[in-house]
Order: sequence, then structure tokens, then C-alpha cells
Amino acid sequence: MKHKSVKILFIAFALWNANTYAQKTPQLGKDPIQKVIDAMTPEEKAHLLLGTEMLGATIDGKPRMHAPGAAGATYAIPRLGITALLLADGPAGLRIEPKRENDPNTYYATAFPVGTALASTWNTTLLEEVGKAIGSEVRDYGVDVLLAPAINIHRNPLCGRNFEYYSEDPVVAGEIAAAYIKGVQSQGVGTSIKHFAANNQETNRLSINEHISERAMREIYLRGFEIAVRKSQPWTVMSSYNKINGIYTSERKDLLWDILRQEWGFKGFVMSDWFGGYHDFAATGSKTSDVIAQMNAGNDVLMPGTKFQYDALVDAIKKGTLPKNVVDRNINSILQVVLKSPAFKKQKFSNKPDLVSNALIARNAAAEGMVLLKNESNTLPYNNKAQNIALFGITSYNFIAGGTGSGDVNEAYTISLLDGLSNAGFKADQGLKSLYVPFVANEADKERKRREDNGGILATPKKMPELLLQDDQIAKAADQNAVAIITVGRNSGENGDRQLAADFYLANDEITLLNKVSKHFHQKGKKVIVILNLGGVIETNSWKDKTDAILLAWQPGQESGNAVADVLSGRVNPSGKLTMTFPVDFNNNPSAANWPGTPATNPEEVSYEEGIYVGYRYFTTFGIKPSYEFGFGKSYSSFAYTGLKISAKELQDEVTVTATIKNSGQVAGKEVAELYISAPGISQDKPVKELKAFAKTSSLAPGASETVTFKLSKRDFASFNSITNTWTVEPGTYRIAVGSSSADLKLEGTINVAQEKAVEKVGDAFAQDSTLTEIKP
Ligand code: BGC
Repeated sequence: MKHKSVKILFIAFALWNANTYAQKTPQLGKDPIQKVIDAMTPEEKAHLLLGTEMLGATIDGKPRMHAPGAAGATYAIPRLGITALLLADGPAGLRIEPKRENDPNTYYATAFPVGTALASTWNTTLLEEVGKAIGSEVRDYGVDVLLAPAINIHRNPLCGRNFEYYSEDPVVAGEIAAAYIKGVQSQGVGTSIKHFAANNQETNRLSINEHISERAMREIYLRGFEIAVRKSQPWTVMSSYNKINGIYTSERKDLLWDILRQEWGFKGFVMSDWFGGYHDFAATGSKTSDVIAQMNAGNDVLMPGTKFQYDALVDAIKKGTLPKNVVDRNINSILQVVLKSPAFKKQKFSNKPDLVSNALIARNAAAEGMVLLKNESNTLPYNNKAQNIALFGITSYNFIAGGTGSGDVNEAYTISLLDGLSNAGFKADQGLKSLYVPFVANEADKERKRREDNGGILATPKKMPELLLQDDQIAKAADQNAVAIITVGRNSGENGDRQLAADFYLANDEITLLNKVSKHFHQKGKKVIVILNLGGVIETNSWKDKTDAILLAWQPGQESGNAVADVLSGRVNPSGKLTMTFPVDFNNNPSAANWPGTPATNPEEVSYEEGIYVGYRYFTTFGIKPSYEFGFGKSYSSFAYTGLKISAKELQDEVTVTATIKNSGQVAGKEVAELYISAPGISQDKPVKELKAFAKTSSLAPGASETVTFKLSKRDFASFNSITNTWTVEPGTYRIAVGSSSADLKLEGTINVAQEKAVEKVGDAFAQDSTLTEIKP
């Protein structure tokens, strides 16, 4: 009896003790964050500041990823209630492995149109819807943070990742990104806006040193990020690989702390790009980043995390070479995001996203992002379903849904143009089909093998050869078909830039095909339609006259063929517009002389001598005529602009501009209205015009009109003065023009500024590491 009560007493004591101990171990979500941080060992702190989950870089193999193919994860500390964040790419949809070992289920995700195609819709409402659909798949597959959107400026048409990015203009990039982020995050998961900042080329991306002026940084390369961060608070930001003025972005406190947090009010955490900031990587291949500089700068998490970085962090934390307040500050940023995550909330996930509904959203977005570049004598819409279509070009049979690399989605299917046309009730020439299909299958197989042997996902894609058709074969096709469609395809991706001869200009086999087809079809009074299935800009000026219509389909995702057929048939009236300039020649580009840097064979540095004159800012200011200008895109209808109203004569904190747009044509359709400001150049040179706002109408029936509203802030009238470190509005008359492209402005008014206004004063940033001479108009 006595023994028994002692035993009970002992058990009670043990329970009480365990309980008290448990109470003493702070728990994330229950106790103040600082208490949780204070309870961490130096080793745990180091772990948390690093990713854990990339093959070959795993520190201790924990935690296991439940969505294979995801790009990485942050560290979990179960004893403190800290869960891991699972991170997965990418901009055109969730990237995970579609198949798992010993598992009969599939895990496909929807391939949405690539970033450039999405931006070409100029439709923020649609972008939010696309974001919601992508976010729902992120959530349903148990992923916490999507590594997207990617919004670097199209500085040069040869950047291999331009397809992931949105535009040469920061307002388009920022507004489109803000809508996308809002959509994704509405599903309770996070985003990682990337690559912060000025990641404008793939050649030597891990080490390239870019010389950029502060004005160009602020007005061009940062402005899109600024708009998106201020408007939509992405959960995370991904720093880029490159250096700016001699310092890796992941080590730049001016960028990651002063500007991102203090000026813009970013609340989440910054992660590095995968293996970002390794010193001497190109020369030695060493995996050494300066973890102390990165942590001090506010790059909170180093991805994917290596043993070297772990050891360096533990050492710096123990010795105090990394100040405790910096470590705690960075960990606090990470934990704030963990607290919001589905993993922390122990949300169940279905692994069964609604792929059917999302495919429809992808198809609509794809069709709306297509840009009609040419349409002589109403060649399109084309609706002759009784007679055959001659389908030329290997890409017609092997449509490119998206680019390669981390932005590539593992979708269940891609609808080719052949199938899309057939789904829409069109008939393709069977003779051509029987020649093309086996040829294309063989070439695609060779290309797949070549890429597998050359780095797989990171191997640069190559243009496949065209099928060489004899003159009489084409003449016969012109006899037997009512119309010709030629598809020109280009692919590119992460880790390599596009090549001038092979990617930008048409290849000889393509020119031959185009010449022969247009000769034979035109001789018979039949039309030639070109579909451009691209991720980036190509030369169009030398051959566009040989065609009757050109539809720029971009890389439209898994519903490619259906979406092209929607536009060709007129089921969808095209309303996409160019978010970049199509130059007459590559050398017309302002960055052509500084691409991809010096020395040319293996560039170490690149000078952004074009300064703020990127894209149309250059072409308009320096009077260079493009092949197709920024903001251009045709419709099957026409639109009349009237009634420009500007809410004030003198600049106010907020200025409202309205205009009425009427569908003056015969077909229902949407119109993108673009607002440009021309500022007087008093002490600073200014571009002739700059896009400051845009609006897309709803679908207007013939004769119907809609009044669109643009809101402008003082910032929209300001330029960055790097001598005074101030966003400044200079005195004078500002022209406000609204129109249908950068070269087709329909309405114009003015607003006056009596005295110079300092809109925002900021700190020093981006000190130059060498002399940079910028072009001036
Ligand atoms: C890319 C990022 C991507 C990351 C993870 C890097 O190589 O630059 O865009 O999110 O890999 O896959």
C-alpha cells in the first residue's frame, strides 16, 4: 500500500515536471516570437537561415518533401512548433513531378501561358483569376510558397528567360505582377517575386557584374517590384544571381533592406536564388557565399543551403561576427511567414486540384494574350470549315507550350495546332500531315535526347530543322487547300541566352518555306497566315510583307492549339498588345552594343549605357522606327476614343483621367487603353513619353462604349534625381495622352506644375564601381 502511493506520487511528479518543461519550451504561434527565437540553439538558428532540400545540398535530410519536384524547403524545428515551408516553381504554373514512385496517381499541374503571354493581356482582372487558379493548385498539392512571379525587365530581346518575364516597361510588369500575386495569395499560400533585381541575362548569370546608374535602377529595374510590393505584399522576395555595381544583390543592404523594407514596407522574408552569391563561382566552382554579408543585407534565407554555409553560419553566430540582432531580425521575418503558411496551420491538402476548370482559365488567358500583328483585308477571322487548311512548319505539329528550366510546368498534355484546329471543326491537309508528323516526332526525339545529354532541364533548347518540301509539293498544297498557315516556333530557357542568328532571325529553311508557300498560295489568290509560337522577340520586318496575317500566339500553355483556334476562328476577338518593342533590326536595340557584356567570349561585366532608355523609351525618344511598336495589337473590330477628362489643371496628390472608348466596328471586343505622360526636361533629360497607367475595357458589343478611369499619383509625374536623391516633379506643362499604342495616341490634354515638387527623398544607393557613360538624347 505504502509502496503504491509512493509510486503514484512519483508518476504525478514526473507528469508535472514534463508539463512544466513543455511549458518552458516556447511554441511558435502560442508564445511571443522573440521567446521562440531566444530558445533556439546557434545550430537551430543556422538551420533556419538556410534551405534544406536540394539534392546534394541536404544538411540532415529533414524534413522530407511531400511534393517531389518542388525546388526546396525551409527548416523545421518541431520542438519549437516551427514547421517547414515547401517552395516550388514557377511563373506559368506549379512545377512538381507528375509521377511518384510506387504510386499509381498522377500529380500534373496546369501549364498556363508563359509570363509574357499573360502580360500581353494587359488585363489585371484576368491575371488575378489566373493567380487564383495557380494558387489553388499550390494549395491542393500542399506547397506553401510559389516561386513566382518573375518580373525582370526585358532589357534585350535575347535574354533566354524573357518568356517568364512580363515587359520592357515597369508599370506593365508591376501591375500585372500585383494582380497575379493577389490571386495566388488569396488561396492562403505565398509567392516569391523574383529575381530581385536586374537579372536581365542568362550568360554568366551567377557572376555577371552589371554597371547600372541609380536612376535606371529606380525608374526601370526596381519600379515594377516597387509597384507589386506596395500593392500586393508578396510573402517572399527572391534576390537575383547578378552583381550590381560590383556587389551581389544578395549582399546589398541598400537593395534588400533600405529600399525593399524601409522605403516600400515589405513585410516578408528574402530568399537567395539557388546557389546565389557564390564568390568566384565561375572561376573555381566553389560553393562559398559570404553568409555574413548576405545576412547583414537582409537576405534572410540562403537557398538551397549547403554544409559550407551551415558551418559558416554556426561559427559566425557563436563568435558574434554576425550580430545577434541581425540573426534574430532575419529569423523573425521567416517566422512571420511560417505563421501564415498552410503547413503551420496543419491544413489538409487534397492532391486533387481542379485541372478541368483550370484548363479553361488557361485557355481563355492564352487567347487573350495573343497579339494580332497584321490582318490584311480581314484575312482573319477565318471560318471556312468546308475546305482544307494547309498546315506548314514543324511547330504546327509540335506546338511549344512554354519555355525550359524552372519555369517549365509538368502538364498532362499540350494541344497542338493540328489538334486545336480539328477540335474547332477545321480540316487540315492530310497529305502534309502524313509528311510532317513522322518527321516532327523524329526531330523532337533527337532534341529531347540532345537536351538530356546536355544538362536536362538546364540545357538550352535548339531550333529544330524544318521539313524541306519540294516546290511541287507546295504547289499541290496550294491547289488543294483554301488557305496556308505557317507556324514559326522558338524555344529558350533558363541558363542560356538566345542566339542572334539562330533565334532572333528566321533561319534559311524558314525563309525558304515562307517564300515558297507565299508564292504558290498568292499565285492562286489564296492567303498565308503566320502563327508565331515564341517566348521572345524575333525579327519580323524583312518577311512580314509576304504574309496576309500574323498572329503572335507566344507560348500559350497546355491549351495552345485550342486557344489559337479560338482566335483564328473569331470565337475570341484578339485584344492582346505588345508589352515590348519588335525592332526592325537587332542592332536598333539600345542595349545591342552592350550585350551580353565584356569580354565578349566570356562576359564578366556589362554596362547599362542605355540608362533609362530601355525599349520604347529609346525608340520614341531617339526617333527609331520599330517593326511593331510597344503597346501595339490589332482587333477584328475598331475603337473610337473620345472625351478625355483630367480632374485638375494643376498637379494634385491624385489626378484622375477618364476617356470613353466606343466599339466602332462590327464585332464585339475588348480594347486596351494606354496612358502616357510626356514630362518637360528641365534639369534632367526625359523620355518622349512614358506609360503610366492602362485600362482594359470589358467586351464591348458593336456600338457600345465604356468610360475607363486612370488614377495618377504625384510619383507618376516624377523622375529620379540622383544628385538630390529625390523623386522630383519639375515645373512646366505635362502632356497626358491616351491611345491604343505608344505610336497611336488618340486623345491629349495637359496638366501644369507651377513649382518644382520633391515627392519623395530617399537614401543613397547603388554607388558606382566604375565610370558609366549613359546615352543622352
Ligand atoms: C532559378 C529560379 C528558381 C530556382 C528554384 C533557379 O535556378 O533562377 O528562378 O526559382 O532555381 O528552382
